[in-house]
This record gives sequence, structure tokens and C-alpha cells, in this order.
Amino acid sequence: MLVRELEKVASAYACRAVKLDREGRIEDAIRMYQEELKTIDVEIRVRPVPKEPEPPKPLFENTRETRRETLAALKPKKKPGITWDDIVGLEEAKRAIKEAIIYPVLRPDLFPHGWPRGILLFGPPGCGKTLLASAVAHEIDAEFIEVSGADIMNKWLGEAEKNVARLFSRAREVAEKGRPAIIFIDEVDSLLGTYNNEVGGEVRVRNQFLREMDGINDKTKKLHVYVIGATNKPWNLDLPFIRRFQRRILVPPPDFEARVGLFRLYTKGIELADDVDLEELAHMTEGYTGSDIRDICLDAYYSTVRELFESGKALEAGSKPRPVGRKDFLLAIRSRRPSVKPNVMRLYQEWYEEFGAL
Ligand SMILES: Nc1ncnc2c1ncn2[C@@H]1O[C@H](COP(=O)(O)OP(=O)(O)OP(=O)(O)O)[C@@H](O)[C@H]1O
Ligand SMILES: [Mg+2]
Repeated sequence: MLVRELEKVASAYACRAVKLDREGRIEDAIRMYQEELKTIDVEIRVRPVPKEPEPPKPLFENTRETRRETLAALKPKKKPGITWDDIVGLEEAKRAIKEAIIYPVLRPDLFPHGWPRGILLFGPPGCGKTLLASAVAHEIDAEFIEVSGADIMNKWLGEAEKNVARLFSRAREVAEKGRPAIIFIDEVDSLLGTYNNEVGGEVRVRNQFLREMDGINDKTKKLHVYVIGATNKPWNLDLPFIRRFQRRILVPPPDFEARVGLFRLYTKGIELADDVDLEELAHMTEGYTGSDIRDICLDAYYSTVRELFESGKALEAGSKPRPVGRKDFLLAIRSRRPSVKPNVMRLYQEWYEEFGAL
């Protein structure tokens, strides 16, 4: 009797969970599934011990297994925790990406003729392309689907075309339930590259990709599926490809102000000696990227930790490294070349002048 009641309660929870799940209310659906599971657990405990022979597989135990799987699949993907405030500088890129994605998500009614779904971030490595994509996903609580173009071509042996299709259909499913989806394709230029010995493979993947892009750009559909492509080599992209990314945003190396900000960010929590002048360091690091500056700060700090170990004092209770001084930073800067050479920057500028669209 009790068992029957519990079964009923469990299926009521399941029904509500499925409904919530369809409505895209993932958190509530998870809660309902959890209630269902709890009820099933009780049901299994109070169920009379079966006499020999073993009855056929109890339906509810099966349910328990599949529910566990559903729960695991539904658990929100670890949201990239990056926010706009974690990104130093890049004001223009931030503005452009906000306009391209956040405005249409907030007020689709203001865009009766549709809005662009493809956004290309280009620029030298280590300047914040991935950070920007993560921040926008975080801001609109989008499902963030991250893949690398190189992986699509090299790891998805023979499956690349199909997997490109799957990628987009997963994004569409999410969007149909009402949650925006962002497909982030790092090294998007690799999609045009050579494909693991398979003759003609790259052409098929490329065409599949173009078709999918046309699908989400379809003006009659109002789904919030966005594709952010990132590349260090925009000049490797061909025109049909470029055209599908209606917004093309240059993510440049940090200027002086931004470098001061980056030094400040990456020395947070590190004790600095009085002779350290972050503006001086910023002057010395023209052409260095955000990622270079982070590494410089870490190198400078590590050198004081190394010293502590070498002095034999590291194991003494309460011992700590000395404050990081100007000289530590200078050494760290000198041991690293700037990642962005002026002539390479000129190439990005030229490409931007020809194809950039903000
Ligand atoms: N503007 C910035 N503000 C804060 N941190 C930054 C910035 N730019 C770069 N960094 C630091 O450098 C790291 C690398 O940045 P990111 O991965 O966004 O670069 P990327 O442009 O995507 O490079 P790649 O082309 O190599 O993928 C970041 O994780 C961050 O630590
Ligand atoms: Mg990146």
C-alpha cells in the first residue's frame, strides 16, 4: 500500500521535473528529479523483500539508474566564472560584443530584421579573446559550448562533419528551451585547414559549418544561438567564411593604461617592495600581452619563493618570502620577449581595415 503511494508520489515528481525541464527551468527540474530519487530510495527500502525466485528487474531500480544519468547530464555545466570586471581594458571589444549579443538577448523586439549571430574575435594570442567569450556567456547565463577548431579537425577522426552538426543541434535545443547558447570555437581558422589525410574532408567540414551558420542566421527564426569564433590568423579565412561572421572584432594587446591595470590585477595579494612602480613596469612592457604580464608577475613572485627555499628557511614555521622588488620584475621582463612584434600587429591592423566590422 505504502509502496504504491510512494510510486505515485515519485511519478508525480518525475512529471513535474520533465515539464520544468522542457520549460528550460533546469534548476527547478533538478530539484524535482532529486525529490523523485529520494522517494524512490524510500520506496526501495520499504518494499517487501521478494521471495525466491528473484522477480524480474524492478522497474523502479531502472528508473533510479536513468534518473541518476539524467541528473548528471542536467547539472549546469560549470559556468565560466569570468565577469567583465575580470577583464582589464579592451573597452571597444567589450562594447562591440555587448551590442552584438547582450542587446538582442535582452530586447529581441528591438531587432525586427534579425541580428547577427556570428562574431569573430581576432588578434594576437593571450590578449583576452577567450576571456571575452566567457564573460559574455556568464553575463547572459548562456550555455557555453567550447570547442577548438583544431580538435574538430584532428581528434574527431572522420566524424568532424557529423560533430559540427551535433554541436549546432545541441545549441539549438538549449535555445529552444529558452536559454541562450554560445558556441565558442577557438582557432576557428583550423576548420579550413588540412584534415587528417582524408581527401576532401576539410571541404565537407567547411561546407557543413557554412550551412549551420546560415541556419542560425535565418531571419525568420529568433533563437538565441551565437557563434563566437576566435583566431590568431584571420588572414587564413576565406570570404564565405568571413561573411558568416558579421561582427569582426579586433582584440589588441593592452595599451599603457591596460598594462598598468594588468600589473595591478596580477600582483593582487602579493606583497610588493617600496621600489616597485607599476607605471614604470607598464612603460617597459609595450608589445607584451595580458598573458605575458600575468606570467611576469608570477615569475617575479616565484623568484622570491625560490630564494626562501634555497635559504633553507622555507620549512620554518611562519616563514614567508620577502616582498617582490623592482629587480625581480626587471629580471622577469628581460627573460621574456614581447609576444607581439610590431610587424605582426600591422598585419592585424591591415586585416581589420579591410574586413573589420564593429
Ligand atoms: N585583458 C585582460 N585582462 C585580464 N587578464 C588577461 C587579459 N588578457 C589576457 N589575460 C590573461 O591571459 C590569459 C590568456 O588570455 P586568453 O585566453 O583570453 O587569450 P586569447 O586571446 O584567447 O589567447 P589565444 O589566442 O592564445 O587563445 C588569461 O587567462 C588571463 O590570465
Ligand atoms: Mg584563447
